[in-house]
Amino acid sequence: MMLHTLLLAALSSTGLAAGCTREFLQASADSLLAAQAAGDPSLLKPAPAEAFAAYNENQKTAAFKTGILKTAVKIDHSRHSLDTTQCATYTEIISASGPKPYVIGVQLWFTDGAVSKIDSIVTSTGDWLFNVTGTLSWARKEAWDVIAAEKRDTRAVIQAAADAYLDIFSDKKVVVPWGKPCARLEGGAYTGNGGPNDRCDVGIPDGVKLTNRRYVIDETVGAVDVMLTFASLADSHEFRVEGGKLRFVHTMTPMGGSRGPTVGGKGPGRRRRTTVPM
Ligand SMILES: *[C@@H]1O[C@H](CO)[C@@H](O)[C@H](O)[C@H]1NC(C)=O
Repeated sequence: MMLHTLLLAALSSTGLAAGCTREFLQASADSLLAAQAAGDPSLLKPAPAEAFAAYNENQKTAAFKTGILKTAVKIDHSRHSLDTTQCATYTEIISASGPKPYVIGVQLWFTDGAVSKIDSIVTSTGDWLFNVTGTLSWARKEAWDVIAAEKRDTRAVIQAAADAYLDIFSDKKVVVPWGKPCARLEGGAYTGNGGPNDRCDVGIPDGVKLTNRRYVIDETVGAVDVMLTFASLADSHEFRVEGGKLRFVHTMTPMGGSRGPTVGGKGPGRRRRTTVPM
């Protein structure tokens, strides 16, 4: 009750006319968590307009009121990025202890203080390298903390680092600003062990186009989430950039119950995309 009241107060004092503030975005992203935890889409504030149609799950048009928010999900871990420049948010949700495991990524987009688009990626058992135990444990160990104002990268630098990584899937000449260390959490698999020698430049396939990129950027934490089309699959790649270099990469790729597309002309993408060095 109290949380709900606070949310409403925050929304009415900072929403509509006041422009897109961090407080407004935070309150709305928090209400997304409340809606997802309760399995009640009506808890999302501000509520999308009645005629709202721009709702996508795993890059397919879906019905907002019957989509994933209709399922109560026990939230073990979540993290928001707030993009005041574009008026958008990205939220990572990990559910390991409920009846069904989920790792969910959600971009909320706002126009004139109202939700104008929602893009969600919903993954569970059977999706690309899905292992919620791994996802939760690595996500909890990583520091995506606030970066001191004088050390922050610009939006352009953060986006360029993400784009370089995404471009190398189809062009091996691209120079990627790899951090040292850098670690990739792909589904529930980790390319490192949390130590100083973790690397991200391992096992990247070739000949795959990552297109249709939609970025949500939060300079305060050096984060950019990119929702994209991976060959033909829906996908989210989220990056943490520190000093212009990649520090963490999180990916979610729903397989839609299939074995995935052929990647690089050599069989199912699923096999070709194995990235954990053995
Ligand atoms: C899932 O991840 C956990 C934690 O990293 C690991 O112990 C476990 O072996 C993994 N399970 C599978 C099936 O890979």
